[in-house]
Amino acid sequence: MIPARITSSAAVTATASITLLAYFVFCKIYNHSSSSSSCRKNKVRNGIIEAIGNTPLIRINSLSQATGCEILGKAEFFNPGGSVKDRVALKIIQEALELGLLAKGGIVTEGSAGSTAISLATVAPAYGCQCHVVIPDDAAIEKSQILEALGATVERVRPVSITHKDHYVNIAKRRALEANDVALEQEISKKTNGKDVAQINGDIHKGEKQYQFFSGDCKGGFFADQFENLANFRAHYEGTGPEVWKQTGGNLHSFVAAAGTGGTVAGVSRFLKEKDPNIKCFLIDPPGSGLFNKVTRGVMYTREEAEGRRLKNPFDTITEGIGINRLTENFKMAELDGAFHGTDMEAVEMSRFLLKNDGLFVGSSSAMNCVGAVRVAQSLGPGHIIVTILCDSGMRHLSKFHNAQYLSQHGLTPSATGLEFLGLGS
Ligand SMILES: Cc1ncc(COP(=O)(O)O)c(C=O)c1O
Repeated sequence: MIPARITSSAAVTATASITLLAYFVFCKIYNHSSSSSSCRKNKVRNGIIEAIGNTPLIRINSLSQATGCEILGKAEFFNPGGSVKDRVALKIIQEALELGLLAKGGIVTEGSAGSTAISLATVAPAYGCQCHVVIPDDAAIEKSQILEALGATVERVRPVSITHKDHYVNIAKRRALEANDVALEQEISKKTNGKDVAQINGDIHKGEKQYQFFSGDCKGGFFADQFENLANFRAHYEGTGPEVWKQTGGNLHSFVAAAGTGGTVAGVSRFLKEKDPNIKCFLIDPPGSGLFNKVTRGVMYTREEAEGRRLKNPFDTITEGIGINRLTENFKMAELDGAFHGTDMEAVEMSRFLLKNDGLFVGSSSAMNCVGAVRVAQSLGPGHIIVTILCDSGMRHLSKFHNAQYLSQHGLTPSATGLEFLGLGS
């Protein structure tokens, strides 16, 4: 009896082992994780569009150990276009196509200091569209190089106030209207057998409307408008937020992020608060931004400027893509419990600390977000689970944030050996 039982249990064990081995081999062959749930989930993704989102949530070991909290970073640099903005570009283009605001083959225009534009230029071709980008000429040079390599048209312009008609965002908006004008003229020309409608009407002279950037078979334009277009908020409310919730099993105490358009912090905070109102959501704000005062005192104000007067002075901070001095439609959707200030020096030191201790090579906004995560940990105390966003990789920031000479010129040479710059022992 006893040997028989052993034999039968041995047989079961052997069968189970063979099944597991086969499963493991299958997963290896198809490049899937051998854990059963991820093996099922990790199916082939249909084109670049399906490769956007579902980014890993990474435990940042060094910061978790130093604070006694679990500090988790949503690694958005895993997106095909290299940043969190892929989600936004995708949602903006999808919604515009669905609503008939953008034609297949049309031109998406955007005023962006970089990441959103790169994401739009990445996603647009997947929908047969093109991209026209207007950026301030002080943005890191590698950003416009990438854009051009992606096939986008790039206009680098002088940084001026958002109230100025030639602010890069306002120029981008104008370019979409111009593209629409060109498309309309072509449409009419087709209907009038090549005769210019202006000539027919006699009120516009042929050739009067000549636009520098659009001609030929232009299918019209659509201004992506990441600051005010709530597709941005929805990308995070429907994507990033639910992913964080799922990846933590709903087991988190806090979320913190900096804001540029406000789409990320708004979409994620609103989703998480709806799931569990006890989750504390915070803003980390860079120098020169008025959002800290908006969140903590209800007034958009910095010493330097008053609400709506001008966009963040680009020289106020080394961080790119975050900080603003006006209230966007996207930021208005945020559900925040408070805000923290972060300095440029802290962001630079944080980036070097993460590289040295975790092998994480991140850009300036991600580093600022991690400064925020430590501030939250210090304020809540040990034992809390805190999520933040790793927006993009350091590779986007080689000419400024990760350039020793540039940092030295701005008095930002890092020197910390640990986290003493945030008041933590190394
Ligand atoms: C690199 C980077 N990080 C963070 C942000 C801020 O995200 P959001 O616009 O969702 O506030 C931006 C915005 O442009 C960005 O480009």
